[in-house]
Amino acid sequence: MILSVILADAYDPVDPKGNIVITWDFVSIQDVYGVMVSIHNNQLYRHIEQPGWRLSWRWHGDEVIWGATGAEATEQGDCHRIRGLVRPHCCEKRPVMVDLPPNTPYTNQVANCCRGGVLSSVMQNNRTATAAFQIVVGSYRHATYHDGTKGPALPTNFGIGVPGYSCSNATKVNATRSSVGKHRHVQALLTWQVTCSYSQFREAASPSCCVSLSSFYNSTIVSCPRCSCSCPLSPTSQQCVRESDQSGVTELLPAGDGEPFFRCTEHMCPVRVHWHVKINYREYWRVKVTITNYNLIKNYSDWNLVVQHPNLQSLTKLFSFNYQPLIQYGTLNDTGMFWGIQYYNEMLLQDGNVQTEIILKKDRGFTFSGGWAFPRRLYFDGHECVMPPPDQYPSLPNAVPETRVSSAQRLLIAASCLLSLSIFIRV
Ligand SMILES: *[C@@H]1O[C@H](CO)[C@@H](O)[C@H](O)[C@H]1NC(C)=O
Ligand SMILES: *[C@@H]1O[C@H](CO)[C@@H](O)[C@H](O)[C@H]1NC(C)=O
Ligand SMILES: *[C@@H]1O[C@H](CO)[C@@H](O)[C@H](O)[C@H]1NC(C)=O
Ligand SMILES: *[C@@H]1O[C@H](CO)[C@@H](O)[C@H](O)[C@H]1NC(C)=O
Ligand SMILES: *[C@@H]1O[C@H](CO)[C@@H](O)[C@H](O)[C@H]1NC(C)=O
Ligand SMILES: *[C@@H]1O[C@H](CO)[C@@H](O)[C@H](O)[C@H]1NC(C)=O
Repeated sequence: MILSVILADAYDPVDPKGNIVITWDFVSIQDVYGVMVSIHNNQLYRHIEQPGWRLSWRWHGDEVIWGATGAEATEQGDCHRIRGLVRPHCCEKRPVMVDLPPNTPYTNQVANCCRGGVLSSVMQNNRTATAAFQIVVGSYRHATYHDGTKGPALPTNFGIGVPGYSCSNATKVNATRSSVGKHRHVQALLTWQVTCSYSQFREAASPSCCVSLSSFYNSTIVSCPRCSCSCPLSPTSQQCVRESDQSGVTELLPAGDGEPFFRCTEHMCPVRVHWHVKINYREYWRVKVTITNYNLIKNYSDWNLVVQHPNLQSLTKLFSFNYQPLIQYGTLNDTGMFWGIQYYNEMLLQDGNVQTEIILKKDRGFTFSGGWAFPRRLYFDGHECVMPPPDQYPSLPNAVPETRVSSAQRLLIAASCLLSLSIFIRV
């Protein structure tokens, strides 16, 4: 069991089939060949945020990229071997392609391009979970691609330039047939596919989110554990702004793209999720969830929160957020995903917060004791949040389990009943 977990290091029980698939559809193969490259994010909740994907690979022949539409190579590279008036777009052995910004002139666009490298998760928006660009590739020596079915040597070393992801080699698959408009299909001459998957171990980043808890039945507020993400004002910790420095914030901001810059807290996480058990009704209970952004110079666009809690199957009402259970593959039924409403709170603003209240119907296992009402796991934007230790959860007054009596206790109660009964009979 442990072995299989270690071997399958990219395995995510919440999204076991999640991956990113890169498809190269060859639309022409002649002296040069035209390729439509598309990147589809099949992950239910992980998305690619700014600064966005950077697709790279290594050529194994004499390839150069003559032109690109909908994306561009970061470096032109050394093109001195190319004779003639037309300069290639990129002569690098290892090209790195980046998406264009949304305000790109229409003539440089292709369908699904130009979103600044951002890819939505499938759950949030399947349409913007795909990116695409077109390249025209040829050899710098001579025209070699006369065979209309072969294409070039398969490139290797694919990468998407986002921490935590690694990609397979390209494999030839059945050529894609795709619809254009209502009545017409087009057939690629040749199709390659590359699969990239995410692993938290590979990313090995320090946590970026933590959880605090409170409830109506206990006035204690359990904060995020101290040093959840790093320690306040330690030499290695990132720059932060103390509450008292607020007036000087603008002067402290780093110029350009500096390190994330956020408020000093005991937990030093850029994001905190607060779970408050708010109201007990007869058949329902109500939770308030607040996500706070401590960054002063970072907005989280299209943020999402994945929650694991055994009562989520009975979520009855929800305010101000979207919700979908993550039961796609039938392995889990207690996990769901929350995200913002378009044009309302889809963006978690710098130094701001978003919040929801949810109403859950009490299931058979429901109880307020033993911390049952608190979430088991939380992920903000695909990163697991640090939870307080369970022995610190707000407990019911006098700490006597109310609705759940352990089997040992039941045995004791039964035994004492029998005992008093036997005494009664003997008397
Ligand atoms: C998302 O879109 C792709 C391509 O249009 C489609 O193949 C896939 O089934 C869609 N997935 C979901 C979950 O809707
Ligand atoms: C890709 O192919 C190259 C050459 O065949 C090989 O050395 C490399 O290990 C392969 N990489 C992966 C991820 O399979
Ligand atoms: C490729 O196409 C052939 C013939 O249409 C089909 O038998 C085969 O199952 C397809 N393979 C895949 C992986 O789709
Ligand atoms: C975050 O969004 C706000 C409001 O749209 C904007 O004023 C601010 O410049 C944005 N911050 C960054 C770092 O983009
Ligand atoms: C959810 O899964 C648990 C454990 O696998 C199972 O006992 C329970 O019946 C499931 N609930 C529903 C509503 O499917
Ligand atoms: C509230 O919860 C804390 C942490 O579990 C516990 O130490 C405290 O006794 C509880 N307060 C009351 C009034 O029960």
